[in-house]
Amino acid sequence: MANIIDGKQISTDIKNEVQKEVIELKDKGIEPCLAVILVGENPASQVYVRNKKRACEYCGIKSLSYELPESTPEEELLALIDSLNLDPACNGILVQLPLPGHIDEDKVLLRIDPKKDVDGFHPYNVGLLSIGKAKLKACTPAGCIELIKRSGVDITGKKCVVVGRSNIVGKPVGMLLLAENGTVITTHSKTKDLAGVCRQADILVAAIGKPKFITGDMVSEGVTVIDVGINRMENGKLCGDVDFDSVEPKAEYITPVPGGVGPMTIAMLMKNCLTACRMQNGLE
Ligand code: GUN
Repeated sequence: MANIIDGKQISTDIKNEVQKEVIELKDKGIEPCLAVILVGENPASQVYVRNKKRACEYCGIKSLSYELPESTPEEELLALIDSLNLDPACNGILVQLPLPGHIDEDKVLLRIDPKKDVDGFHPYNVGLLSIGKAKLKACTPAGCIELIKRSGVDITGKKCVVVGRSNIVGKPVGMLLLAENGTVITTHSKTKDLAGVCRQADILVAAIGKPKFITGDMVSEGVTVIDVGINRMENGKLCGDVDFDSVEPKAEYITPVPGGVGPMTIAMLMKNCLTACRMQNGLE
């Protein structure tokens, strides 16, 4: 029987830690503030944005909300980012993705001041991550590391296999595991003998976007499994990229879906808002 890693509890612990530090900042006359920008009416994005604003409220972080119509010209969005970049009262800028097709996502992400890039998506912050000096780390990958460490699993010297090489999860989580002294293999759809490579893993991170892709025969006894996938099945239920029923009996630690990695993304966003605010006030 594996230990189930409780992402909901760990994310609450992190938000409580942020809340405490926010109180300390406010005592110094500093109020952390996050600007959240949503363009269009994508229902999933609306839910994410609502949850991000709620988390801000919980942590005592001020949130500024910009809900722009689908037809917003790219120039107008860029002008809003420019003004928030210059506003000293705004510490973090989050542009919810995906953006409507007529807006160039790369151009938008590049426009955000790297010091206010609480998503950790700006190439400057990705560069810092690659040299092991990141302050603002992409939230989901940083959340995976917190889940592993707070479960008491030491990453140093462990064989870490990451399945998936996306810019938002696979690649950055590999870099973070390396920074924690893991021995990292990043695999993808062209990897030969994927099952064999996965069986070498002490720590396996699944970020493929394919429901129940990692099965029990692909893991070894005692593995720690972090499942980043969130897939909706035909019956409406959520499932991960890991086939929980066949993998769990072999794992020592495993994250469930839902309630594993999912809640960590917003908790790490709150942590990044705090870090951004502290950096901008010369506190780190
Ligand atoms: N859309 C889905 N996930 C994310 C995220 O982590 N950040 C942003 N900005 N947009 C998203």
